[in-house]
Amino acid sequence: MTLYEAISVRVSTRSFDGAQLTPEQLGDLGDLCRQLEEEGTQDSPFGNKVRLAIAGSEIGSKPVRMGTYGLIANASGFAVPAVARGGKLSGTMEDVGWTVEKLVLELTARGYATCWIGGVFSRSRSAEVVQAKEDELVPAIIAFGWPADKRKLADRLVTASARARARKPIEEIAFDLAAERSYGPLSDVASDTSSDSVRTTPGGRFEEPWPAVLRAVQEAPSASNKQPWRLVRIRSEKPSGSEPIPSEWFLFLDEDKIYNNGTREVHLQNLDLGIAMRHFQIAAEEKGLAGRWIPVSRLSSGSKDNAALKAALDFGQDRGWTACALWS
Ligand SMILES: Cc1cc2nc3c(=O)[nH]c(=O)nc-3n(C[C@H](O)[C@H](O)[C@H](O)COP(=O)(O)O)c2cc1C
Repeated sequence: MTLYEAISVRVSTRSFDGAQLTPEQLGDLGDLCRQLEEEGTQDSPFGNKVRLAIAGSEIGSKPVRMGTYGLIANASGFAVPAVARGGKLSGTMEDVGWTVEKLVLELTARGYATCWIGGVFSRSRSAEVVQAKEDELVPAIIAFGWPADKRKLADRLVTASARARARKPIEEIAFDLAAERSYGPLSDVASDTSSDSVRTTPGGRFEEPWPAVLRAVQEAPSASNKQPWRLVRIRSEKPSGSEPIPSEWFLFLDEDKIYNNGTREVHLQNLDLGIAMRHFQIAAEEKGLAGRWIPVSRLSSGSKDNAALKAALDFGQDRGWTACALWS
């Protein structure tokens, strides 16, 4: 299973069968964590270093517990990230979401079921597992194992599409901003002559292969399923009949301020953004679309003066969203 396929298979699982892990499985997961840590600083959007550790219940040992009370039952193990504390603008949460979601998808591809836990878990126990230093924090953990109900696992592929029903429709999360009023293959959409050059475009109206990329974001897990990610496409070049149309995308956070700032240094919705960036990147690579995420804070002032980029920033800001990164 590829990571792209894993995006559609993954579903949060909270009730596991309690199976213990073999030394080979634990070794494999340890290697995976090392690999992701190494990739980390080079490929994470904000360049923060995320460390990862696994607490697994080994054969013959007691089940691992992480203070999740009744919420999570019989997990075979937990993955625990640590990151150096930084302000909200330093992108630490986004980078944890980015790195840990790849771990989640790797686990999914290996047949494990998973659940992000950002709410109730033992901060002290998890800090011990990852040997968190004084300046580091553990924003969330991942429970993993095999589902208590094995049938559910088999049903997952079948029900993957049903899950979309628990998601906002694409047209509520992705928007198309034409730099010019009307051009190219979307002229049927662009034919409205209203003074507002901004249209919300139903998902189906994005030409191939973008719908697959947007669906990958739509399928991303998010804290309390709030789906706070918003994407605005900028088409700054006039397409020459080529598809896909050269596109850049701004990612915004439609923040629930009380929810996202309730837990001191942990901002669960900024984790959500990192997760969404990872899903977007995996799907874009799968579809042969070249690009990478650039934090808005690192865009040169010159590029912010670019009319198309500025219009996209204004579009989001008018709606009360916070700009996070540009995929370009
Ligand atoms: C950052 C983050 C934190 C989460 N925290 C919890 C949690 O504390 N408890 C829980 O049961 N689920 C938690 N979830 C799982 C979400 O509820 C779940 O992803 C969402 O409802 C969508 O369902 P799905 O993952 O099955 O697609 C969390 C998810 C994310 C991304």
